Amino acid sequence: MKKLIKNGTVVTATDQYEADVLIEDGIIAAIGRNLKENVDEIIDAKGAYLFPGGIDPHTHLDMPFGGSVTSDDFETGTIAAAYGGTTTVIDFCLTDKGVPLKNSIQTWHEKSKDKAVIDYGFHLMISEVNENVLNEIPKIIEEDGITSFKVFMAYKNVFQADDGTLFRTLLTAKEHGALVMVHAENGDVIDYLVDKALKEGNTDPIYHALTRPPEVEGEATGRAAQLTGLADSQVYVVHVSCAAAVEKIAEARQKGYQVWGETCPQYLVLDQSYLEKPNFEGAKYVWSPPLREKWNQEVLWNALKNGQLQTLGSDQCSFNFNGQKELGRGDFTKIPNGGPIIEDRFSLFYSEGVEKGRISINQFVDIVSTRIAKLFGLFPQKGTIAVGSDADIVIFDPNAERTISAETHHMNVDYSAFEGMKITGEPISVLSRGEFVIREKQFVGKPGTGKYLKRKRFGSNTKATEKVFQ
Ligand code: URP
Ligand code: ZN
Ligand code: ZN
Ligand code: ZN
Repeated sequence: MKKLIKNGTVVTATDQYEADVLIEDGIIAAIGRNLKENVDEIIDAKGAYLFPGGIDPHTHLDMPFGGSVTSDDFETGTIAAAYGGTTTVIDFCLTDKGVPLKNSIQTWHEKSKDKAVIDYGFHLMISEVNENVLNEIPKIIEEDGITSFKVFMAYKNVFQADDGTLFRTLLTAKEHGALVMVHAENGDVIDYLVDKALKEGNTDPIYHALTRPPEVEGEATGRAAQLTGLADSQVYVVHVSCAAAVEKIAEARQKGYQVWGETCPQYLVLDQSYLEKPNFEGAKYVWSPPLREKWNQEVLWNALKNGQLQTLGSDQCSFNFNGQKELGRGDFTKIPNGGPIIEDRFSLFYSEGVEKGRISINQFVDIVSTRIAKLFGLFPQKGTIAVGSDADIVIFDPNAERTISAETHHMNVDYSAFEGMKITGEPISVLSRGEFVIREKQFVGKPGTGKYLKRKRFGSNTKATEKVFQ
C-alpha cells in the first residue's frame, strides 16, 4: 500500500518546510517536492501542518485507583487520544509487592489486547527492591522492552516507596539502561497535613490542595534529583506543577545531573481556585500534585521555553464526576485523583503555546513528541517525520477553531476540566503507521490495530539525552 500526502508543511523539532510525504507499508518512504509515484491514494494537505504524531508518556488507562477504576480503558482512551493527534501512549503498569513483575505486565497486556487503536508501551511501577525484583528487571528490559520504571514518593500506604527503594532503583536503572520516573511529593508530610485537616473538620476539595503545598513537591523533587546525582543515574520527574519543583530540576541540571521534567496541560492553564468551585465541582480539579496559584503557570511556560522542562504528558486518569469523584463528598481524601486530558493535550498545547507565542512551533513538536521518543527509547521509529520512521502523522489545520466540551469529546467521562475553553488549531486526519485512524475528524480505526512497543534502552540514541533544547 502506498499513500502520498501532498502540499502539506512538514514540521519537526528542528525544521518546517513544504513537502510531499510518501508512505509505503506504514513507513515514510520519501519526503520531497512534487513527488511523482504510482500510489493507491493521494491526500491533499494544502494549508495544513504535518506533525509527527503526539506521544503521550503518561496515561493511566483502565487503572484501579482511589477505590475506583479509571473510566477510560485502552479502547476509549486511545480513540480519544487519536482524535486529539496522539498516536502513541506509554501507560503505567501497576505492580503489587510480593507478586512477580511479569504477572503485572501480563495483566496490562490483557487490559490492552484487542483494544488499542494506536501504538502503546508500558512503564513499570517499582514499589520494592529485593532479590526477586533485581533478577527480574534485566529480563523485563530485554524481553518486554520496558525501559522506564516508576517510583512513587507519595500516596502513603498505597503506592509510596521509601528512599532506599528509589535509590536502589536508580542504581539498577543505571546498570541496565533504563530511565527512572518519579512522582515527586513527600507522602509522609502530606499524610500528616491530611490527618490534621480532617481532625479540624476541613473536608472540602480545596483542602486537597492545601494539604499538598508546593514545598512538599519541591522537597521531593530536590531529593530525587540529589539521589540521582549520587547514583550517577537518570531521572524523569512526572507532572511538575510549580516553581518550587522547577527550581530543583534547573539546579540539578546546572550541576550536570541527568534530570528531566514533564508538566501537563492542567498546570499550564488551570489554577488552585478551581478547587473552590461550589456544589462539590471542585472535585473535578483534584490532581496530585494539585493545581497551584496562578503565578506558577508563567514559570512553567518559561521552563518549557528555556529547556528546564522538556516534555508534556497528559496524566490521563479519568473518573466520572457522577459516581466516582462524588465518592469524596464530605471527605476530600476519598476523591479519586486525576482527570481526563488525553484528547486535548496536543491541541490545547498548540493553541496556548504556539498560537499565543509562548513557544516556537518546533519546540511544540519537540515537547509533545520528539523528546519523549528520545527519552523513552522510541526514536527515530516514533517522534519525527523522517524517511524510515513510522508514518504516524497528524494533518493539522492551524486555523480551525473549536470549543472544548464534554458534549463533543470522545473520552468516556462525564465532564471536561477545560469546558468552554476556546482553542485554535485542530487535527483533521491522523495516521498510525500509514493507516487512517481519524479521517476528516471521524474515527475510522479499529480496536486491536495498535501494537505493543518494545522500547530501546535509555541512552541508545546518543542524542537522546542531550540536555538543553537548541
Ligand atoms: O492525580 C493524579 N495525578 N492522578 C494520577 C496518578 C498519578 O499520581 O499520576
Ligand atoms: Zn503521579
Ligand atoms: Zn495517616
Ligand atoms: Zn499519573
